[in-house]
Amino acid sequence: MSDWLAEATTNHAIIDAARARLESDVWDYIAGAAETETTARRNRLAIDSLALCPRVGRDVENVDTSGHLLGQRLRIPVLLAPIGACEAITTDGGIAQARAAGRFGIAATISSVTEPSFEAVGAASAGPKISQLYIRGDEDWANALIDRVRDAGYLATAITVDSAYYSRRERQLRSGWRPPTHIAGQPEPGIVWQSRLTWDWIEQMREHSGLPMVVKGIQTASDAEIAVEHGFEVVWVSNHGGREIDHGEGTIDILREVSDAVAGRAEIVVDGGFMRGTDIIKAIALGADAVAIGRLQALALAAGGEEALVRVLELLEEEIRVSMGLLGVVNLGELDRGYVKAAQALPATSSLLAAFPEHPLDWPSAP
Ligand code: FNR
Repeated sequence: MSDWLAEATTNHAIIDAARARLESDVWDYIAGAAETETTARRNRLAIDSLALCPRVGRDVENVDTSGHLLGQRLRIPVLLAPIGACEAITTDGGIAQARAAGRFGIAATISSVTEPSFEAVGAASAGPKISQLYIRGDEDWANALIDRVRDAGYLATAITVDSAYYSRRERQLRSGWRPPTHIAGQPEPGIVWQSRLTWDWIEQMREHSGLPMVVKGIQTASDAEIAVEHGFEVVWVSNHGGREIDHGEGTIDILREVSDAVAGRAEIVVDGGFMRGTDIIKAIALGADAVAIGRLQALALAAGGEEALVRVLELLEEEIRVSMGLLGVVNLGELDRGYVKAAQALPATSSLLAAFPEHPLDWPSAP
């Protein structure tokens, strides 16, 4: 590990490095969201509107931060969210994600719109990997892609269901920057298939693959119920980090009702604004099995690729360990709703900033 990373004692420092290294258009691709960015801000606001309720007088010398998902042990209850165009953030793209996750001991979700191929990323690390698919063709197209990821050793298929259209991301519209799969001013080739995606088609994909099915982008208890009725193994509560529908709800608020609806019949992942150990603990207390990180991961990769991402995960682990001890719990199974309660959030003006308060408020897009 390089000197500056070994000396980075907070994730704040790594985010600072990302800000300094990134071109403003790629920074905006990562940090930005749809239209007014209200959904993204609500993700943070909802997390910040929960207080933790510590218990004392217990022996908390030995804290176990590990969790489980899809039969895999996770060193911390964290999953790498899929990041499209990862190669625009760090040169080896999805390989850096898979290797960092494998080295640290968590699972990585690899996007179908990131480079290099699912096969190259699969071969780069023996750690557990989930393939995330956008549907850009008909049934034969989707089945062929599913065959490839199964053959490449991915442990589950995740279908993103919150992206029937590519949203209006105004930072990108202003700068003109597009992910490499897009041609400026034109719809992404094949994106119409994503708007034709139905529950029945997802079930067909599940049958074709023989792999566990993860449905990423559930935003209501009603849809969580449908996912469970279809027998899907993982319900992933997400609004795409506020990058799709604007004026949505904060995901940690949705988590509570989804957890009631699922009632133990599927595993639950949540993402949206999670940056800190305490954020993750709140989600576990409200019923999540694991929390996925998107922007925190992307910024780590921008700061220093695989090495910086491993360092961010180490620091996140330390935050989780210390906070669990301070809450009076020694394993995640002890966390329940009694450890969180509604509280007034402190004012914050951006989705990222509430977690990193030393930054000048706003982290505006560079001119
Ligand atoms: C994403 N996200 C995403 N989701 C997905 O299903 N496929 C993808 O290719 C991408 N690409 C992508 C790129 C970038 C730069 C970001 C920031 C996000 C959404 C991602 O998986 C996750 O749902 C959110 O990022 C979670 O919110 P936070 O952690 O970023 O606040």
